[in-house]
Formats: sequence, C-alpha cells, structure tokens
Amino acid sequence: MNLFLVSVLLAAPMPAAERVIIDTDCGYFGDDGSTLVMLLRNEAVRVEAITIVSGNVWADDALRNAKEITRLAGHGEIPVYLGAELPLRHTLEMAEQEKRRWGPMEFRGAFGVPRPVAKEPLRRVAAVSEIIRRVERNPGQITIAGLGPLTNVALALRQRPDIAGKIRRMVFMGGQLRVKGNSTREAEFNFWFDPEAASAVLRSAIREKVMFGLDICNRAMLGKKGFDEIVKVETPVTKRFREDFGVRYPEFLKNPKAEVSLWDALVAAWMIQPRLFGRPEELYLDVETDFGPMYGKVKLAGRDAEPGAAPVSMMNNLNCAAVYALFRDLLREKR
Ligand code: RIB
Ligand code: CA
Repeated sequence: MNLFLVSVLLAAPMPAAERVIIDTDCGYFGDDGSTLVMLLRNEAVRVEAITIVSGNVWADDALRNAKEITRLAGHGEIPVYLGAELPLRHTLEMAEQEKRRWGPMEFRGAFGVPRPVAKEPLRRVAAVSEIIRRVERNPGQITIAGLGPLTNVALALRQRPDIAGKIRRMVFMGGQLRVKGNSTREAEFNFWFDPEAASAVLRSAIREKVMFGLDICNRAMLGKKGFDEIVKVETPVTKRFREDFGVRYPEFLKNPKAEVSLWDALVAAWMIQPRLFGRPEELYLDVETDFGPMYGKVKLAGRDAEPGAAPVSMMNNLNCAAVYALFRDLLREKR
C-alpha cells in the first residue's frame, strides 16, 4: 500500500456507532442475554438504554436478569427500564383456551408460570416513556433492537404516532412466514405472545423494519460443539451462559445432541456485521389478530392495506459459520 493511501485511510473518519435501545424479555441468560452481551461489546453499536417487556418471563424477572447480565458484561452503567407487564390483549386465559382447543403448544413463556403480584402501576410506563423521550430528542438517530414481544414499541406508537417517522430503524426477532411456528403450530413466540403489538409495528410507518423470523433463525443453530467452545473460556458471562444453556435449556450438559437457535443473537450479528447476511426480501406484512388457531401468525398484506405503512425487510440468508464465530468471540471476550 502506498503512503498516500495509508494517510487517506488514517484520516478517514470512523463511521459513528449506531445508537440503540434494546427492548428485551430477557430470561436467565438465553438468546436475549447473548444478544445483550454482543451489542454491549463492539464498536459498531452504542447501547443507550435497555427496556424490558414480559415474554420469555414476566417483566420483573426480565428486569433483574437484564441488569445482572449487563453488569457481568461490564456495563452496569446502562439504564434499564421496566416496561409492559401484559400484552395489549392476549391473556393467560386466552392462552389456556388456545392450548385446549387448538393445541399442542410448544412454548408459552411467562404465560406458563404464575404471575408475580403486581407492583405499583406507575413504574410500568417507564420503558414506553423512555422510548418516546429518547426518539423525540434524537429524531432519525435511534434504532430499536426488539428481542421480545413488541408491546412497549406498540404502546409508544399508540401514544405518539409521530415517533414512527423519527425512529432510525427497527431491527427485531419475531414471526415467520414459510415455516411452522414455535409457540403454536402457526405462530412464533414473540408474535404469538402479543399479536396486536406485532401487527401495529409491522403496519407502522417506521421506515426501515428488519425482521429476523424463524425462517432464517431455524438455520442458525448452536450445537454441543459450539457450546463447548464457548464455555471452555471461563468468564463471568460464560459461566452464566453455561449454567443456562447447559442445565436449563437446551441442556447441553445433559444431552450432547441438544441444539438451539441463536434467535435474537442474529439481530446483534446483523447490526455488527451486516455483510454476514444476504439481501432481504421486501414485503408488506401483517399479523393475524382474529382469535383462533392462526392467532399471531404473520401474513402477507396488500401494499395499500395500511396508509403510510413501510415494507418489512425480511432476512432470509446468512453465513452461519461466520455468524457463530462472531457470537462465540464476543461471548468469550474477557473485559
Ligand atoms: O421465538 C424465539 C423468540 O422467543 C426469542 O426472542 C426467544 O428469546 C424466545 O423466547
Ligand atoms: Ca427474546
């Protein structure tokens, strides 16, 4: 390389880090925990806040988990705000009816465990008002990484529809189009838990919506070999990862044939290294909100179904080995 080129490269400004709010239903560690760690540990992204929603677990538990994991990853300074405890419409009673009438049901998340006694209601709005406040103050600057049901984002859009045009982009894990669901036969968990919220976000005017559904997630699997590579480096983060993925789900320490999707971690991998993914498919999408066996299923929508709606960029292809290597390296990092 000649000297001129070297000096030009050195003088070129680094692209500014993408400013992100992570909205998560964080379990004990799981894919949400891995995603938090990945997003906190790289230069491409600046995590400004974490907002919590019920999904995998009830919001109170998710709050505790996210705070603990953020601290283990060396970023205890990032603010974490409690958000919606309940979906917009879906209830435990409805979920039980669905199981009875249209089961089997693979995963129910928080709907499968007793709900903690409600605390004072004001704390619940913190996440929603923080999303609104931060987007309002920084129009076009803030990306939302949605790792759980989209209740908080839908509530923010409902309260302040004008923020749709001020969100830089929404990158989320949820839904599926051409493969079967993982909650009910027809629906993916995040969308099933709050179908009305998912529908509001897909039909919104947020200009860039990048979707990682089960169609791509089912091809990004972590197996025992990958698990072993991560846990052989012992750090506070990998210890918690080992405890969760080894003993709880998918039980790598008990069953060497176990495997699990990287799910939410694809959101982080794409934000950090988009070139590891193929071009998206641009589609107008919606979610079934009629209460029946299809509740929560993604469906194609007409271009004119919702005035002002922007299409969804559905991700379909990835370089699995490279995405796994990124995942492994960020989780094993000693900081
Ligand atoms: O369907 C996968 C989604 O639900 C992920 O967000 C994961 O955390 C799970 O609970
Ligand atoms: Ca999640």
